[in-house]
Amino acid sequence: MILDPLIRWLNRRAVRRKMDRVFSRKADPYGYESLPYETQRLDAMEAAFQGRRFEAALELGCAEGVFTERLADRAAMLTAVDISPVALERARRRLAGRAHVEFVETDVRDWPGPSPGAFDLIVVGDVLYYLDKPLVREAFEQAFGRIAGWLGPRGLLVLAHGFASPEERRIREGYRQRFERLGLRLLGETAVGDAGASGGVQCLLSSLAR
Ligand SMILES: C[S@@+](CC[C@H](N)C(=O)[O-])C[C@H]1O[C@@H](n2cnc3c(N)ncnc32)[C@H](O)[C@@H]1O
Repeated sequence: MILDPLIRWLNRRAVRRKMDRVFSRKADPYGYESLPYETQRLDAMEAAFQGRRFEAALELGCAEGVFTERLADRAAMLTAVDISPVALERARRRLAGRAHVEFVETDVRDWPGPSPGAFDLIVVGDVLYYLDKPLVREAFEQAFGRIAGWLGPRGLLVLAHGFASPEERRIREGYRQRFERLGLRLLGETAVGDAGASGGVQCLLSSLAR
């Protein structure tokens, strides 16, 4: 459809503005450094690596770089992607001096990325539901194929998305199922967090391999 590029541009601009507003209001708006639930979630994501070290890691939706810092200790090369320049500015400051970390400001749905199979670790935490909007659903669906394509042989894909209802959990399972349909193998899946203690929120953590 001829309007598609315009709709995608408008959506990209709206998402960037919205995320910039969120990050401009205050530092650490999601409480990654203050909420016990978030610490537990990030610990569980790191535990999913099972002590492995990686040659080339990719983090989609890196925000202010809290998990990026942990990844930087585990990967020889790390690419961290986010749509928000405000968040990326803080992430760059946090990771200053870590020359093996590259930041990319882009919309995940538009990023051509490097060559297929370039990464042996891809981390996608609390970002896919931002990409799934009615008028740009095709770009959202296409992103799964590109992400799966970037994963090399023996590569590990870690998905971690919060949910607060059975319906939201099903949607998160749908992300993992899309990757399975693209040929990735589920290694393990667990719900992280105590819903009673975290306002009903838990995180569906899934590990997949090529
Ligand atoms: C809730 S934070 C998640 C941060 C981190 N990945 C985690 O698991 O804690 C979501 C991040 O995704 C970014 N984001 C949202 N839509 C995006 C898009 N279309 N392309 C790239 N980044 C996006 C936001 O700017 C934000 O920094």
